[in-house]
Amino acid sequence: MTDPRPPPQFLRTTDGWSPSRRDAGRRPYRRRVTHVLVTGGAGFIGTHVVTALHAAGHRVTVVDSGHPGAHRRPLPDTVAGAPLVRLDVRDRPALAAVLADGVDAVVHQAAMVGLGVDLDDLPEYVGCNDLGTAVLLAAMARAGVHRLVLASSMVVYGEGAYTCAGHGPVRPAPRTVADLAAGRYDPTCPRCAATLTPGLVDEDDPLDPRSGYAASKAAQEHLTAAWARQTGGAVVALRYHNVYGPGMPRDTPYSGVAAIFRSALEAGRAPRVFEDGGQRRDFVHVRDVAAANLAGLDATGTGTGWRAYNVASGRPVTIADVATELARAADGPPPVVTGEFRLGDVRHVVASPTRAETELGFRAAVGLAEGIAEFAHAPLRG
Ligand code: UD1
Repeated sequence: MTDPRPPPQFLRTTDGWSPSRRDAGRRPYRRRVTHVLVTGGAGFIGTHVVTALHAAGHRVTVVDSGHPGAHRRPLPDTVAGAPLVRLDVRDRPALAAVLADGVDAVVHQAAMVGLGVDLDDLPEYVGCNDLGTAVLLAAMARAGVHRLVLASSMVVYGEGAYTCAGHGPVRPAPRTVADLAAGRYDPTCPRCAATLTPGLVDEDDPLDPRSGYAASKAAQEHLTAAWARQTGGAVVALRYHNVYGPGMPRDTPYSGVAAIFRSALEAGRAPRVFEDGGQRRDFVHVRDVAAANLAGLDATGTGTGWRAYNVASGRPVTIADVATELARAADGPPPVVTGEFRLGDVRHVVASPTRAETELGFRAAVGLAEGIAEFAHAPLRG
């Protein structure tokens, strides 16, 4: 059967991705049955990734630490039919034993996510996300495993892309407490203080992480890029936008806004929309994120080096609109716009999905209306 997706165009870039000599001139994207290790495979996104890998005919092994931030129940023995080994990726001997079982590629989802509560969370973010990735990379190199898909995040960009009418593209400074408290939510031009027009970030935009979590994701990207250079391996880093869908964890300090709104509605409460609700995000359905992982995995079989991709729908929405749609679909109370703010939040971050489409053949398939209608009644993770 012919593959309908466009051929990838891995170009030599500053990221250093190039087609492998082995595959040069051959048709890419032939699906090979591969033994894939999915870290964090019992989590929200990981479970969907495992399901998609299985459906595509891969052999899958799952490792998961059962971190209490993500799991309130004991871990199952299997995820979507794949065996689950309970381990923390920082446990190098245990990880080495799993990798030694003929693993061809790793899909690294294991991470602590969200803004967190306070700076006491910082060591755990760095421990799980950065030390965890470092131990994984060292173990992969030792085991001769050279293909990696990294779950990264749009939080590495900080604020999205902005243009000033007078000064062109600019990068605004982080918003101050004084501005936020006064209801001045939109970033202003650092040169003339004019209100800026938000645009789409692309993968070549500079990294500007603005929370401990964001910094830990940026560090994962740097570590994996260094690993790719040193080992000649292939890394596809997927910068997820706001992921939502069935199995999302219930309301915790580490949950994304969709889960928080959905949990409120389930309890009969109105979603509380911070700032003025005009902040923009890109909500991408978790099954689309799983499909992006599959496409990313295929790409690691056709090239070497390091390459980042936005995983986004390409259809930005405001947080107020998402809350309204979700409340309507759940038949719950309409949202309340509270004017509250969180200092770690950025105002708008939405991205161009073009690179993932042209190079990976990935395009989000689940529309927001359809996804929200499902999500309004889908089970959450307990
Ligand atoms: C989110 C995730 C982040 C993930 C990224 C990309 C969290 C905390 N953030 O970042 O881990 O990497 O998507 O997938 O999990 N808001 C409300 N009411 C609330 C909670 C939040 O209005 O009750 C607003 C926030 O002020 C913010 C927006 O919703 O403007 C999005 O919040 P959130 O999903 O928490 O953070 P992101 O920065 O989008």
